[in-house]
Amino acid sequence: MFAADPILLTPGPLTTSLRTKQAMLRDWGSWDGDFKQITRRVLDRLLGLAHAGEDFVCVPMQGSGTFAVEAMIGSLLPRGGKLLVPVNGAYCQRIADICRYMGRQVVTMDVAEDGQPDPAKVAAILAADPAITHVAVVQCETTSGILNPLPEIAAVTRAAGRRLLIDAISAFGALPLDLREIEADAVAISANKCIEGVPGAGFVICRREKLEQAAGNAHSLSLDLHAQWVYYARTGQWRYTPPTHVVAAFDQALMQHEEEGGTAARGARYAANCKVLVEGMRELGFRTLLADRIQAPIIVTFLCPRDPAFAFQRLYDLLKAKGFIIYPGKITVADTFRIGCIGQVGPEDMTRLVEAVKAALAEMGVRDCAPKLAA
Ligand SMILES: Cc1ncc(COP(=O)(O)O)c(C=O)c1O
Repeated sequence: MFAADPILLTPGPLTTSLRTKQAMLRDWGSWDGDFKQITRRVLDRLLGLAHAGEDFVCVPMQGSGTFAVEAMIGSLLPRGGKLLVPVNGAYCQRIADICRYMGRQVVTMDVAEDGQPDPAKVAAILAADPAITHVAVVQCETTSGILNPLPEIAAVTRAAGRRLLIDAISAFGALPLDLREIEADAVAISANKCIEGVPGAGFVICRREKLEQAAGNAHSLSLDLHAQWVYYARTGQWRYTPPTHVVAAFDQALMQHEEEGGTAARGARYAANCKVLVEGMRELGFRTLLADRIQAPIIVTFLCPRDPAFAFQRLYDLLKAKGFIIYPGKITVADTFRIGCIGQVGPEDMTRLVEAVKAALAEMGVRDCAPKLAA
């Protein structure tokens, strides 16, 4: 990290290593063999991380995570298909919005923002509506930080003979996702989350057979995964200008992910970050929105204190001055803020953050961190 950089405790873009940043100090020709090799390596590593065998291909997609998710839905949900989305936050809701935008049929199963969708209810909805062809699941709903029951929803989807699409944007590389165990048609991934790259690229791991059947399905020229894949298979290039520096940085980030010990080690570091953060904040009197057993080690939602001296913006500014960037809340039912556990940060950074929060509260004159709303 550069000395002047604040630590980003956010859901991404996040703090990246110096090595990852340095990988962007070179210009690449998008048609050049060296850059093609980088792309090939990145796609192969992602397939490896998901334990995706010969039945899968990985397709790159320019843009932020939403572009990858939209490309996945638009390309792999057939025009006559119907999608079920269990919704417990904004990113699940966004998948439903994407369907409505492109005129695909969608039904939502609405769940409280601090609750997991019940797989038995998913099964019941699938049984009652034979027109539903696909289910979409967000592995970690970053709105609250909740871990969704992906294996259980995958199991009921499979049992009902329907197909699964996964938004693993905020979790891939830190939480396990094994395509030998989870039957899915596609998984959307972003560069700037748990692999610790920089923003600008997404990737969709697709079941080859389903992608082959997806010709002409997409609603959008640039978000057509089938066309992107056909072009890539023929030329080794991205179909339109690739974010070359982002891909080079992501390649380096993937190497560091492997050096750290892969998904298990990355997940363990984030879990250690989460533990130090939550215990420290609780000691200061804060309450988390979620019970520990459903909290993913990605981002934690804290309830705002009712003490009138507390103001999120003031806490944000004071922490920024101390070198930490935190994140506003996103849930709709309570006043909250969020602190991320992901990125090139370790438990010692979390200890320093908790000390900084304590100092900031003293500066604000906050004495009581009990929340406004009982969770
Ligand atoms: C689970 C999930 N899905 C999708 C997105 C959208 O990604 P982006 O904001 O990069 O478009 C995010 C972003 O945080 C996310 O956490």
